[in-house]
Amino acid sequence: MDEDQTDKLERDRVVEEMTARLGVRAERGKRFAELTSLRVGGAIDWVITPQTEAEAATIVHELDQAGIGWRPLGSGSNVLADDADHHYIVLNLSNMKGEVHIDGELVSVSAGYSLPRLCIDVARAGLSGIEGLGGIPGTVGGALWMNAGAYGHEIGTVTEKVRVARDGKVVEVPGDGIEWNYRRTSFREGELLLGATLRLKPDDPDQIKARMDDAKSRRLATQPHGARSAGCFFKNPPSSTIGTGRMIDEMGMKGQRRGSAVVSPVHANFIVTEGENARAEDALALAEEIRERVRREQGIELEYEVELWRSNPSTDYTDKPSVESVESVDRKEA
Ligand code: EPU
Repeated sequence: MDEDQTDKLERDRVVEEMTARLGVRAERGKRFAELTSLRVGGAIDWVITPQTEAEAATIVHELDQAGIGWRPLGSGSNVLADDADHHYIVLNLSNMKGEVHIDGELVSVSAGYSLPRLCIDVARAGLSGIEGLGGIPGTVGGALWMNAGAYGHEIGTVTEKVRVARDGKVVEVPGDGIEWNYRRTSFREGELLLGATLRLKPDDPDQIKARMDDAKSRRLATQPHGARSAGCFFKNPPSSTIGTGRMIDEMGMKGQRRGSAVVSPVHANFIVTEGENARAEDALALAEEIRERVRREQGIELEYEVELWRSNPSTDYTDKPSVESVESVDRKEA
């Protein structure tokens, strides 16, 4: 047996012992195609699904100590994972929902809670500040990680505290100690977000709901729904007066196809996938074709908004998986 196989057996032993002891679900044989909204991506060695913030904090601490690589996944609505086998552990946080606690203007929620659900809950409670985000699919954790924004609202603006995992414990960090940029934050790879406390503003529930419904219907009118997408694929460039969607549209690329991936005919900054056997490779090739044309014709280097999750290039499954590096852009959406 070679060294790599021995390491894998040892990793499997650690995962099985830990998850049995904690009573947490651990599964083999899952694929990113089942766990992401683009419905593409290869096999995952292990998916671990904690239910509580404390469990998740313990799990990542033990994995770190054993030198086993992991990545957190929410609802998979902003991730493009490649088609090969991914050997790191996927921590599926979509079951770590907890309960929403509302105390005056403060709202505490776990990372696995659905963002659209939270927007409805707080609107009913007469709390304003995130109703623009009501149509964004995803979890609270994913929204915090990338400082999700739409229709004049950004989650970072209203975040009072974030709970993160440190040394096996749940630790609170103040929101104003975090950099909240355009679709980018100062959270680091390897830092697990467990939940947050938001500070919202009291307002009339009917008016909040009306603004949320307006944001949702604008979204329905301008963005594809029902199709398999990961939201906007690229950021809007800071140097350009027109957004990426409009730029790609004006180049006549709506409907352009590469195998199972298509530039959405509704909004050109969305790539959608089609068919049972859709491939991440097609979506990536189409994305690179767009970037190449924008580079050539506009002299602009488009930055990915979607996270590209690479399977390990080496056979060393304990490596931290690589993610396309994200440059800082301090520009709010149009
Ligand atoms: N437009 C076109 N053709 C297109 C798409 C857009 O001409 O194919 C035009 C629109 O008509 C409009 C302008 O471009 O005049 C801007 O479009 P839109 O209002 O759709 O805004 P956007 O900049 O494309 C941004 C965010 C969205 C967010 C909306 C609404 C980015 C990259 N995108 O889109 O966020 O929902 O504003 O606030 O910042 C996401 O993060 O995944 C996302 C979709």
